Amino acid sequence: MFELYLDTADLGQIARFGASLPVRGITTNPSILAKANSGLAELLPKVAEVLGKEARIHVQVVSESADAMVKEALSLQELPYDIVVKVPATETGLTAIRQMKARNIPVLATAIYSVQQGFLAALCGADYLAPYVNRIDAIGANGVGVVADLQHLLDRHHLASKLLPASFKNTQQVLEVLKAGVASITLPADIAAELFAHPSVEPAVNRFSQDWQAVFGQTLSFES
Ligand code: E4P
Repeated sequence: MFELYLDTADLGQIARFGASLPVRGITTNPSILAKANSGLAELLPKVAEVLGKEARIHVQVVSESADAMVKEALSLQELPYDIVVKVPATETGLTAIRQMKARNIPVLATAIYSVQQGFLAALCGADYLAPYVNRIDAIGANGVGVVADLQHLLDRHHLASKLLPASFKNTQQVLEVLKAGVASITLPADIAAELFAHPSVEPAVNRFSQDWQAVFGQTLSFES
């Protein structure tokens, strides 16, 4: 089943899209939490209130050694929420991911900038892989290409990791990674809003209202 996440800790936006879309949960990182000025003790109960207790929340470790990351992950797992531990896919991070997976901790390998790096994280058993599509584009490489190649390698080698592409700055990037067959995605609120905002939609809907009201006034469909 495809998983749709929101890449934000903004509760207003989480409530907004949680109402209109089947949002599986949210993804966070240290920058997102710092921007919202919200720690987990404050955020997690509010997200559960808005999206339901079963919402999945991706939380990044801030420790710097593998042992400390594993300890941090174990503490995150003690919280009464469905938490996936995000770990940067560095050499230290991959060491930590292997230890976390030996303890059955759900893990997302984050900060993926290349196919090779993502492939190694998949080999280490990461449940999710987060390639940073726009950040890859911004350094002159091809974010969508990295996602498509990684999906190909996951399929080719029957690796269980799910791609969860992140870092989007336009809806075309979103469309292209969906076409590559990813199993999940995380969208910033502005990009989620843009997916609804085709300029032809509102005029079309307004025209239906005008045509109806010209003949039936305020009568509702079942009353006509
Ligand atoms: C995932 O949670 C990533 O940390 C995030 O999508 C990065 O996005 P940005 O490139 O817009 O900061």
